[in-house]
Amino acid sequence: MSSLNLVPASVEDFRRRAAKRLPRTLFDYIDGGAGAEVTLHDNVRDFQKLRLSQRVMRDISDTRTDIDLLGEKLAMPVILAPVGMGGIMAHRAEVQAKRVADKFGIPFTLSTVAICPVDEVAAVSDTPFWFQLYMLRDRGVVLEMLQRAWDHGVRTLVFTVDLGVMGTRYRDIRNGMAGGASLWGKIRGGPVEYATHPHWLWNVALRGGPLKFGNIAKYAPSARSLPDFKTWVDSQFDPSVDWNDIAWLREQWKGKLVIKGVLDPQDALDARRVGADAIVVSNHGGRQLDGVASGATMLPQIADKIQGDVPLIVDGGVRSGQDVVKALALGAKAVMIGRPWIYALAAQGQAGLERMLALFKADMHTALGLSGYPLARDVDRGALLDHGKNLS
Ligand SMILES: Cc1cc2nc3c(=O)[nH]c(=O)nc-3n(C[C@H](O)[C@H](O)[C@H](O)COP(=O)(O)O)c2cc1C
Repeated sequence: MSSLNLVPASVEDFRRRAAKRLPRTLFDYIDGGAGAEVTLHDNVRDFQKLRLSQRVMRDISDTRTDIDLLGEKLAMPVILAPVGMGGIMAHRAEVQAKRVADKFGIPFTLSTVAICPVDEVAAVSDTPFWFQLYMLRDRGVVLEMLQRAWDHGVRTLVFTVDLGVMGTRYRDIRNGMAGGASLWGKIRGGPVEYATHPHWLWNVALRGGPLKFGNIAKYAPSARSLPDFKTWVDSQFDPSVDWNDIAWLREQWKGKLVIKGVLDPQDALDARRVGADAIVVSNHGGRQLDGVASGATMLPQIADKIQGDVPLIVDGGVRSGQDVVKALALGAKAVMIGRPWIYALAAQGQAGLERMLALFKADMHTALGLSGYPLARDVDRGALLDHGKNLS
């Protein structure tokens, strides 16, 4: 029997609300993945396929979700992942996300291609946030961006390595984002969609400006629109990057360096060799190479190779507190969530994201308590039925 659906109770509920609030092109941009979206679906399904063990009659009067990571204390092992163009989905989304992350005692990661720039996010509070960077052709720009982030209190740099070439996203093509739409198609996808989403139109399009890539605006002065910015960024992505460039970056950055986008055990060893302080096991939320395995599938192999030398973070398909506990059991120290935080902000603004993180936390407490691991920091493969072997 269907419910009244008055209050969102899951990430999927926020997703559905976001789908109603956002123009179709924007919703598809966040919701979609590369190709036939096989990897996108696997990401979610693989966490669902894992089974937790139920262990009872242990003292669970004091379950705790906090962990230590990279010298920080996280109230729960959840990090808001870098999401480009967040501020076009919800009013100054990156600022709202930072506020909520502060409230929940977890890190927020600002994307290179965010709408809100580093200084606007830093103005929220003195609590440090993480900054994500891609290697740009112009290393001078890279160095300037690093310096600006440092000057605004960033001490953890997330360096994304899985964007050497852009994934082909069918939904974006179908929606005309790559060009080719007829005149009527442009009107239908633009003005008609905007006019039929008044909440977004008022809060984001009319009152949410400036709608540009805040961190790079100064380097692309002739860019007038978001597509102009995107063209500039695409021309700046450097496909020649290799581990030597990361070694160079390591020398430039005095803070913690997190390498994001590793899915192979040998690559994880290389990331460790060039000085990564942490690794994000990730396929970019299924947005890059369709057909690769999920982070959940690859994580145990990578954890076995890395042997705890550097903390592992996993992302892709984490949709609940139970998934967080499963990720810890597979060998992660924490997870990143991407789409969920954008769905929540697009659906209900700051209150929505607060509610969603509260749900994650409550679900984590339940999962920790009923799997017999009161402390998140102690979770190991024993928390999974058959040690999670049904995924391998
Ligand atoms: C709309 C969108 C934009 C993204 N932009 C970036 C980005 O700018 N930098 C980056 O490193 N990852 C980016 N990602 C990937 C996320 O950081 C993260 O790896 C992914 O969303 C995790 O999967 P999930 O959405 O299933 O949680 C983006 C993801 C989405 C959905």
